[in-house]
Amino acid sequence: MSKTSYRTHMCAQLTEANVGEHVILSGWAQKMRDLGGVIFIQLRDRSGIIQVTFNDECDKAVFETASTVRSEYVIQIEGKVTMRDESNFNTNIPTGKIEIICEKINILDSANTPPIYIEDDDTVNESLRLKYRYLDLRKPSMQQKLITRHKTAQVVRNFLSNEGFLEIETPYLTKPTPEGARDFLVPSRVQQGNFFALPQSPQIFKQILMVSGMDRYFQLAKCFRDEDLRQDRQPEFTQIDMELSFVEPEDIMDINERLIYTVFKEIKGYEISLPLPRMTWQEAMDRFGSDKPDLRFGMELCDITDIVKDCEFNAFASNCKKGHSVRAIVAKGAGDKLSRKEIDALGEFVKDFGAKGLAWFVIQEGNVKSPVAKFLKEEELNAIFEKTGAEVGDALFVVGDKNTVVYNALGQLRLQLAKKLNIPMKEGYEFLWVTDFPMFEYDEEDGRYYAMHHPFTSPRVEHLDMMETEPDKVLAKAYDLVVNGMELGGGSIRIHSRDVQARVFKAMGFTEEEAELKFGFLLEALKYGTPPHGGLAFGMDRLMMILTDSDNIRDVIAFPKTQNHGCLMSEAPAVADLAALEELGIRVIRR
Ligand code: AMO
Ligand code: AMP
Repeated sequence: MSKTSYRTHMCAQLTEANVGEHVILSGWAQKMRDLGGVIFIQLRDRSGIIQVTFNDECDKAVFETASTVRSEYVIQIEGKVTMRDESNFNTNIPTGKIEIICEKINILDSANTPPIYIEDDDTVNESLRLKYRYLDLRKPSMQQKLITRHKTAQVVRNFLSNEGFLEIETPYLTKPTPEGARDFLVPSRVQQGNFFALPQSPQIFKQILMVSGMDRYFQLAKCFRDEDLRQDRQPEFTQIDMELSFVEPEDIMDINERLIYTVFKEIKGYEISLPLPRMTWQEAMDRFGSDKPDLRFGMELCDITDIVKDCEFNAFASNCKKGHSVRAIVAKGAGDKLSRKEIDALGEFVKDFGAKGLAWFVIQEGNVKSPVAKFLKEEELNAIFEKTGAEVGDALFVVGDKNTVVYNALGQLRLQLAKKLNIPMKEGYEFLWVTDFPMFEYDEEDGRYYAMHHPFTSPRVEHLDMMETEPDKVLAKAYDLVVNGMELGGGSIRIHSRDVQARVFKAMGFTEEEAELKFGFLLEALKYGTPPHGGLAFGMDRLMMILTDSDNIRDVIAFPKTQNHGCLMSEAPAVADLAALEELGIRVIRR
């Protein structure tokens, strides 16, 4: 595959077995060393690096040309693969025992001095890397990430094709999809005043493909969500998206466990043990304060509501009276590791997640250091320590509030403490299916219910009767796959009955007209014989973060966006041409 008009081999393809062969190579000059009588050039292509040597055997003109080569020049060389002297072996590169004794050189292109080093250990700031992304992508580590991404896509395609899935493309110019983020809008020139929305996911189209009888669909689909970015979010990202007919959650989880098993086996040589563990949403929240728990360490939440419900400390007692809860986590041995200032900072930290305060107890021999302990009776304190397992030397943190706030604040505090205290993490990958999500979540600001997954997700049949009376208690046939505290994917069984769909819309406060306006074409399609169906989507970029041990989603995307949704290389987004705006019937209001 590597042979072209410009080369016979790729650099790192050559081994000792090629010694004596005459080869032509093309690539970039990584490094030059001119020792007067001898010139060494490290030649680099996607496969790796090889040393090219110009010595006294070489023609004078060739030697002179070689001496003009600078970093990142593109050159073609011709020469003989030769064994190096043992004293010159370079154990840092796979081709370190051989070199090319060069006979001809052809400079294909010169290069300006690159603004960043093409070295993996270069510590240049990320903005510069993103501005000169093409140089950044020349680094072996970045090339490896994209190569791994390509291989992963191949494994996924092969696996799903073998399972009977068809790869079908769905449109990018479409109508809003119900994933809950803001849409990116694209104005229509032909239908002035109307807008396409870029898909937040192919959700509606993949369900319609099931109505069409396609039975099993998949796609490596670009999705677009106008939302605030984090380490594991991009406005434009890729899903491994699938939908299946005549299935229950078991069927979907089974196929996807085997898919993930195959990907990890083929890409990392890592054997995941199947079946993957499962936990209900409720258990995940109660134990870890999160619907994507990181199971690589403990520090579980403990409910102490019963112990403090009648105590003298108002922040606890009043929350218990309101039917809220008081919960705790214990940081083992952290009593003398956290300064007062650090503990106060943790108090501020939980406020970002809605908590009004953080009560803390540092347990010392014969003494409890705490601003709150004085309000609690000795038996209450002892009961708290016994239930939470807190011992001398530990620090205990407590939040009392609405359940949602307590879960979120302590769930985040748990992660923060693990980072701060360098809590040892279990090696490897801790996968978990989180199941039995609530169907709805109440938004206090908007004063209405939203679907926790999306509004086409099927409630559990036995909970249908509670939809109008106790929507909080209705569970959905939805599941997420979590790994090491990251949500890798999620999906659900969909509603295939128009009646149930109408009731779900109603529970969410949609009128029939609103539902019709938003999703009318799906509702219409559901009238014509719909198979029971369901599906799932993985975040391909997040999967690649895990597979390539990257802690930043931008590292696994060739041309990613920055925090403020920009591309530093192309300088998108940019001001639009006035004439183009005119044609679209758009006037820009600058604020
Ligand atoms: P959901 O919204 O959970 O489900 O998305 C599925 C997966 O996509 C990834 N993901 C993202 N990755 C990077 N940047 C983002 N901004 C981003 N947003 C989501 C996550 C997530 O688990 N249509 C449904 C799936 C279904 O029901 O079949 C959906 O899109 O890894
Ligand atoms: P206060 O009585 O408000 O001065 O709070 C005394 C201590 O209790 C402070 O350390 C607060 O951070 C903490 N605290 C206040 N409200 C809560 C709460 N709802 N849950 C846990 N701790 C709280």
